Parts: sequence; structure tokens; C-alpha cells
Amino acid sequence: MNIFEELGEKKTVFKCKKFLDHRFLPDKLPHREEQIKSVAKYWVEALGNVTPPDVTIYGKTGTGKTAVAKFARKQLEEISKNKNVNVRVEYIRCTDYTTEYQVIARLCQQMGQDVPYRGWTKAEVINAFRNLFKKNVFGKDLILIIILDEIDILLKNDGDGLLYTLTRTENVSIASISNFVDFKQFIKPRVRSSLRDREIVFPPYNAQQLVDILKERSQLSFKDNVLHEDVIPLCAALAAKEEGDARYALDLLRTSGELADEKGSETVLESYVREAKDHIEHNKVTDIVMTLPSQQQKVLESIIYLTKRKEEITSGRLYDVYKEISKGDSVSYRRIFDFINELEMLGLISTKTISRGRGKGRTNIIDLQCEMSLLEDAIWS
Ligand SMILES: Nc1ncnc2c1ncn2[C@@H]1O[C@H](COP(=O)(O)OP(=O)(O)OP(=O)(O)O)[C@@H](O)[C@H]1O
Ligand SMILES: [Mg+2]
Repeated sequence: MNIFEELGEKKTVFKCKKFLDHRFLPDKLPHREEQIKSVAKYWVEALGNVTPPDVTIYGKTGTGKTAVAKFARKQLEEISKNKNVNVRVEYIRCTDYTTEYQVIARLCQQMGQDVPYRGWTKAEVINAFRNLFKKNVFGKDLILIIILDEIDILLKNDGDGLLYTLTRTENVSIASISNFVDFKQFIKPRVRSSLRDREIVFPPYNAQQLVDILKERSQLSFKDNVLHEDVIPLCAALAAKEEGDARYALDLLRTSGELADEKGSETVLESYVREAKDHIEHNKVTDIVMTLPSQQQKVLESIIYLTKRKEEITSGRLYDVYKEISKGDSVSYRRIFDFINELEMLGLISTKTISRGRGKGRTNIIDLQCEMSLLEDAIWS
């Protein structure tokens, strides 16, 4: 028998797994009706040939920001086709296109103007982009809405030049999406003042809302009656603790189903959800640690060493141990601070500043934020 046929015939609890994939955009987004309406309320102006105001969407990870923006885009595209108005909505993920040049080149490409990803000057690319708005290209006045997803990455990487250019291009409306409420610190006043933005905040989902979201998705993706009744509530409760992250809730549900398949079980049990949680946690930490540069891994090793000895971890003490571990091949004391910051941003450690009392200055104390055994597995695997 052919190996694929054999695998294809394996029993499964899934009807269609792709509906649990992150990239799948469902037809219904429970508990986001209000946010969709907020976006639509601004974008609707485009149908009357008026450039909509810029929109800024904030919220923690997994709160449906990307899904809502794409949903609104789909709806606007549908209606503008029917009404025969010239509106386009282009989506750019700024983790894929991280500079002004790349984003504008990408926009040109998406709109059918061939611009190379390198080699031109920035001014040439901007010109090519602005030329797209000349009447002879699209016939009618074009209104362009640009969704800049994860815009904080681009701003940190390349400054606010992109926003400067886009806010100074007629008929362009920007929809920026960020996890980071404070991202406007990267925008200089001259650009901030021309960003006519309206802010829309996405609150985290609570457990009950996550139950509704998971129910909707599970009906599409699982066979009937395979989920034990506690499975969805448990996924929802665990994800509600993780700051209301719907992506995590979906991961838990999918991984629980996969565990059922692996075990040859015809139903998904509550205990699989707990197993799925460990599994996901493990993979996440392993992925992060394995891709760290080796000097940074050594810093992490030093933190583990000190944690095991139950020592208070100050940056000075950390540096001593690190030098010992990296044996001559060590970076400067200053660099260690960057490493500490990065490890903190990745969620592996936390730091707090304490005061030693009058005249004795302040010290940073470092704490591990994830299970030691997970880290050790990851480092020495
Ligand atoms: N209200 C909802 N109904 C159904 N599915 C949802 C809902 N909200 C989020 N999801 C799903 O959860 C996952 C995460 O959502 P999304 O990618 O939109 O989050 P995000 O806020 O953009 O997160 P990040 O900041 O990490 O990019 C996606 O698979 C999305 O389809
Ligand atoms: Mg997103």
C-alpha cells in the first residue's frame, strides 16, 4: 500500500483541520462586531469618493486585529465592486516588508507596477507609487486604503519616513495595527500631526467569549460529538489567562485534536488539553532558545546556573558567571545589558530595579520567567 494512502486512511477526529489554521479568515467573528463597525464607519466614506481618515488599531496579541482588518477589507471590496467605485485596500505585514522602500515597492507590485525590491533610489520608488494615482492609470480617482500590520516593527526598524510619505500622498488612508499601545513614540511630531487617525482598541477576550469563538470554529473543523464537553471551556479558560489570546485558544484546541489522533482515540478528552498546553509551551521555548545567538545562550545558561544556586542575580554577578562560562570568548559588560533586554522582551526572564537604600544606588535583579527544565532541554538539545 502507498504510504500516503495508508496515512490518509488513518482515523481522525477532524473533519477539516484547515479551519483551525491561523490564516483562515472565518465568515463570522463573534465579539468583534463593534470593532468591525468602527472600522467600517470610517472606511465607508471611500464609497462616496472621500478619502477615509487614518485608523489605528491597538490590542494585545490574538485579540483579532488582523482578522477584523481583513474582514472589513473583504466587505469593502465586495461592495465597491458592486457600486463600481475605485477603492482598493492593500494589506502589508511589516514583519515581511520592514523598510519604507520595501513597503512602497511592494504596494507598487501589488497594484501592477513593476518596481524592483532594490536598486532604485527611494525617490524613484515614491514617484512610481504616486504616479499610480494619476487619472490615466486607473481611469477614475483611486482611493487607496493601506493596512500596515505590525507597524511597530517597521517604525523601530526604519523610522517614520513611510508614514511621512503616505500621509503626504493624496487619496491614501492608512490603517495601522500595533500590539504596542505606545508605538506613537516612534513617530515624530511633524508626522504625527498629519496622521489624522482614529483609534480603535481591541480588549482581550474573556473566557466566555473565547468559548463562543472556539465553538464556531470547532463546528467547521471537528467531526460531530468528538469533543468531550469540557474541552472547549478548558481551552478558553487557559487562553483567557494568557491575556485573552484567541490564537492560543485555537492552538490548544487543534493540538488537543492532534493528540487524540496520535493516541488513536475517537474523542478528545479534557486531559489532552493539558497535555497540549505543555506541548505548545515546550515548542515555544525551544524555538526561541534554539534561535538565540550563542553568546546569548551563554547568558541564559549563566542565569540558570545562578537560579539553581538560589543566588540573587544582579547584572554584575551575572557577568562574572557568564565570563566563566564563555571562557575568554565573551562580550563586553555593556553588551550584556542589551542581551538582558532582549531576553526580557522574549519573555524568558524578567528584571526589576530595586533600591539598596540611600546613597547605595539601584540594582537590577533578574528572574527566570519560564520553567527551568524546559530551558535546560532547549539549551542542551
Ligand atoms: N472574534 C473572533 N472570531 C473568530 N476567530 C477569531 C476571532 N478573533 C480572533 N480570531 C482568530 O484568532 C487568531 C488570532 O487572531 P488575529 O491574528 O486577528 O490576532 P491579532 O490581534 O492580529 O494578533 P497579533 O497581535 O499577534 O497579530 C486568528 O486565527 C483569528 O482568525
Ligand atoms: Mg495580527
